[in-house]
Amino acid sequence: MSYVEGLQCRECGRTYPLAAVHVCEFCFGPLEVTYDYDAIARDVSHASIAQGPPSMWRYAPLLPALTEDAGSGAGPRHRVDLGAGLTPLVPAPRLGEALGLDDLWIKNDTLNPSNSFKDRVVSVALTAARALGFHTAACASTGNLAQSVAAHSAQAGLDSYVFIPSNLEEPKVLGAAIYGTNLVAVKGNYDDVNRLCAEVAGEYGWAFVNVNVRPYYAEGSKTLGFEIAEQLGWSLPDHVIAPMASGSMLVKIDKAFSELVKLGLVSEAPWRISGAQATGCSPITAAFKDGSGMVRPVKPSTIAKSLAIGNPADGYYALEAVARTHGAMEDVSDAEIVEGISLLARTEGIFAETAGGVTIACLRKLAAAGTVERGERVVAVISGLGLKTLDAIAGQVGPAFTITPALEDFQSALELAAAARQEARA
Ligand SMILES: Cc1ncc(COP(=O)(O)O)c(C=O)c1O
Ligand SMILES: [Zn+2]
Repeated sequence: MSYVEGLQCRECGRTYPLAAVHVCEFCFGPLEVTYDYDAIARDVSHASIAQGPPSMWRYAPLLPALTEDAGSGAGPRHRVDLGAGLTPLVPAPRLGEALGLDDLWIKNDTLNPSNSFKDRVVSVALTAARALGFHTAACASTGNLAQSVAAHSAQAGLDSYVFIPSNLEEPKVLGAAIYGTNLVAVKGNYDDVNRLCAEVAGEYGWAFVNVNVRPYYAEGSKTLGFEIAEQLGWSLPDHVIAPMASGSMLVKIDKAFSELVKLGLVSEAPWRISGAQATGCSPITAAFKDGSGMVRPVKPSTIAKSLAIGNPADGYYALEAVARTHGAMEDVSDAEIVEGISLLARTEGIFAETAGGVTIACLRKLAAAGTVERGERVVAVISGLGLKTLDAIAGQVGPAFTITPALEDFQSALELAAAARQEARA
């Protein structure tokens, strides 16, 4: 049973039947999936969700789970599903103490099948793509999406074409190629890749997860919001901080909270949502800080390559969500990003990629300024694994000692280190 009604333009409200389209043909506004919320409210409860699978698909009634629409009779078995979602939401008291926050939590989305939150959006996008009759999946990616599309396509038996900027981190390149995708490295930045993909999408009958099937894709990020609420005992946090590239994830976490309130699954309470970017690619944060609301495209230059989208598709909607919920936006330097990665690892045992460093470093600034308040229940979304961006920390950390396999050698290394510490203190 699916509760999806169709697609609707966010700007002018015109409606469209379910298809692989993403912009309104009248006003060029983005299209969004619409649902029969009355029917969902009748059928969906905390108990029915708890009986669902231990994955993001426990929220299937609130997703474009089109397989069931297709009438194949195969139902959920036709989902494209590697088990994304229901990642841990863990309290982070040691990091909280370092940042001056009393009730900090980490949503650890490094623990998805291809180690980033992109598995959520891809699982939904490819499920919809297959139901809409596509046999080939494709995407323009800053790295994590490439890995996720390649992995999910492999499992689903779909052909795939994955387009990336040619300067991406090696683990992301190899980590996509290993799944047997057609990996296309483009000499240019993400915005160049995306432009090319818009043209390719017009020529070939492929499902581009973040182009022609973007309305379905984007809905997958709502599951971050649903999970946070469920994991907090069906209550909303006071404040969520999320990294922004296109801005879509942030917008959809906010939408998830609105839907839960509308459905009576959580009690109505104000929440705030804040966004984090790298200073070297901060078009959305810049528009927030200068108060213009005008998102001006930039040429990215940052170690946070996963967030390096200079012309963000959902920038305006991210600004709207942050303003409406009285959140904020911040940006941080490459050095602060590395310090953010290190601080999270040292205090909470979670190793994040550069995007996570951006989130923690921005949270640190916002907490220091009192914008994120000490007593708030804060959730920081950590969206990708540190092993994907080892270059960012290479040379900054390493072995404490390099010794021969002899006890005396270890003991003298310990003594030398103790002496060095003493000297440093003196
Ligand atoms: C690890 C990671 N975090 C966050 C984002 C931001 O996603 P969005 O484009 O939805 O803002 C991305 C996007 O590629 C990402 O790879
Ligand atoms: Zn429109």
